[in-house]
Amino acid sequence: MSIPGNILESDLGGLRERVNQRLAEYIAPTAFTSSADCPLRLRESMAHSLLAGGKRLRPLMVLLTAEACGGSVEAALPAACAIEMVHTYSLIHDDLPAMDNDDFRRGRPTNHKVFGDAMAILAGDALLTLAFEVIAEHTQPATVAAACCADLASASGWCGMVAGQVADIEAEESAVQRAEKSDADTELKHLEAIHRRKTGRLLTSAVTLGARVAQADPKLIASLSQFGKCVGLAFQIADDLLDVTGDAAKIGKGVSKDAARGKMTYPGLLGTDASRQKADALIDEACQLLQPLGPKGDKLAALARFVTQRDH
Ligand code: IPE
Ligand code: IPE
Ligand code: MG
Ligand code: MG
Ligand code: MG
Repeated sequence: MSIPGNILESDLGGLRERVNQRLAEYIAPTAFTSSADCPLRLRESMAHSLLAGGKRLRPLMVLLTAEACGGSVEAALPAACAIEMVHTYSLIHDDLPAMDNDDFRRGRPTNHKVFGDAMAILAGDALLTLAFEVIAEHTQPATVAAACCADLASASGWCGMVAGQVADIEAEESAVQRAEKSDADTELKHLEAIHRRKTGRLLTSAVTLGARVAQADPKLIASLSQFGKCVGLAFQIADDLLDVTGDAAKIGKGVSKDAARGKMTYPGLLGTDASRQKADALIDEACQLLQPLGPKGDKLAALARFVTQRDH
């Protein structure tokens, strides 16, 4: 991907390469004492989705936040890989026939199309649990590892991403009744609550994980969390927009699926222009929140800007 602003693509390319390499190591038969026991087909299914590329936005957020808070990339790599594992599991399950029923992801057939529904569900389960093993085993000190596990579990779990996915599916199922009785303002509040959980919580966790690994003080973690919230909502608005205006070959997944399924989306409620304005305003707000970091926040700001300027 090419990132606009003052962040060098070579900078990010190098970090993405380190993430990709470490992800491959974490699912290799030699990764942990019992890793050789992983069934071959399960490992192939995990690798199919995890090592398929993807923008790696969440791990890059972890690494850049850690750096901006004075921490090291090396110390933040386990948490960066862990959040990418959780994200990849969420995509595998999101694509299942019982959910969004999608055929393409990251430029490849979706996991269940290649390995079947049962193996796709299990590969998702395995990636989700491996994420916490990676943090617990490789993040130091133990108090930081525990805080990172709690952060990621809360963001991805029953009141975070999973809750958002439930709300997304429920909204899809009740599209017709809703349209008859809700006013525009209520609809918008409902949609924001979906997006803040299904996508926003995990993106916020990317930022707070990086800050935690760098042992940033609680006040800084709190203001960075606000930054993550803005970026997270903007990210899902951009995703909704790409479903309407994007090029399937560039984004590596199907387009024009949301309206057909009766999904609640920003362009569906506000139209494309107002949605784009809302996303841009959120990124402006996010960048303001980075001011306490001074120039150390520049790379993070550029990565945030990429969220709404991207074409994939
Ligand atoms: C897609 O996420 C799913 C959403 C949460 C909107 P990404 O757009 O980050 O997908 P990859 O990781 O680059 O494939
Ligand atoms: C997915 O949102 C959010 C999660 C996976 C948690 P979408 O359903 O809009 O993502 P895409 O468009 O399939 O990537
Ligand atoms: Mg979905
Ligand atoms: Mg989907
Ligand atoms: Mg989408």
